[in-house]
Amino acid sequence: MERPESVGDLTEILRQGGYLADRGLATALFVSLNLQRPVLLEGEVGVGKTEVAKVLASVFGRKLIRLQCYEGIDTNQALYEWDYARQMLHIRALSERQLDSDDAVDKLFGPKFLLERPLLEAVRAGDQAVLLIDEIDRADDEFEAFLLELLADFQITIPEIGTVKAATPPLVVLTSNRTRELHDALKRRCIYHWVGYPSAEREVEIVLVREPGASEALTRKVVAAVHRMRSLELAKPPGVAETIDWVRTLDVVGATDLDAQSVDDTLGAVVKERDDLELVRANLDGIASGG
Ligand SMILES: Nc1ncnc2c1ncn2[C@@H]1O[C@H](COP(=O)(O)OP(=O)(O)OP(=O)(O)O)[C@@H](O)[C@H]1O
Ligand SMILES: [Mg+2]
Repeated sequence: MERPESVGDLTEILRQGGYLADRGLATALFVSLNLQRPVLLEGEVGVGKTEVAKVLASVFGRKLIRLQCYEGIDTNQALYEWDYARQMLHIRALSERQLDSDDAVDKLFGPKFLLERPLLEAVRAGDQAVLLIDEIDRADDEFEAFLLELLADFQITIPEIGTVKAATPPLVVLTSNRTRELHDALKRRCIYHWVGYPSAEREVEIVLVREPGASEALTRKVVAAVHRMRSLELAKPPGVAETIDWVRTLDVVGATDLDAQSVDDTLGAVVKERDDLELVRANLDGIASGG
């Protein structure tokens, strides 16, 4: 698909892909696409940060390449690795005489034995890909510094093979739950957008896009109840993902209305912390009906 012509155009394309972006998010993504700058999405849990990268890949017919960050992730796991097992097998298959030649050793560190990891794959795919660097806040400082360098020139040097460079960079979406502050240098390279909770009206729309079979009246009540929960200072406030799960759960158990009993029965779909459960259970009537 071609590039969107305007923010409104992009919003509509995303909507057709099942994602409802507000104006701020759509603008950040539009700028990112046009200026070929990475976009950094920070925000609450379960508000659609990861999903938007998936939908972007799907609506633009690009390949989604995902780098899931975690504590201790290192450059090998992100860039490339040598396939030791195959190298060993190959060595064993060679005769003594063949092993002596320089050529044989060179081959061992050639493309045949290279395992592509997400970042190398993304540099090779260039603008045919959406690179999702998910939960960058979980990686450590050094990894962040390394990423910063990569994002600057989209170039990877493999000593044994040479340099690979993207002709046109992929669309890069970074996400963070803000478990730690990211470096200014990384932020400066990106277009930044904070993804907050949607308004109640918008959240109803999102649920109905994702669950077209859901009852609108019940969805409205569920969304209102979730919004009341978010104002309770829970340790883990429910995200949009939980709202959708809750509507599905109510449907499965055959609940057609939201009252103290049906909230209590299905609470495990929305609240997943013991202390939070107690807090919510102490307010059941208010949460179910707003009374
Ligand atoms: N604006 C939206 N339009 C459509 N679906 C949405 C939207 N926001 C959230 N969702 C739904 O919520 C679900 C959770 O979203 P997602 O996994 O992207 O959240 P996240 O922000 O990455 O959360 P986490 O911080 O837990 O990783 C998605 O599967 C999607 O169905
Ligand atoms: Mg996510």
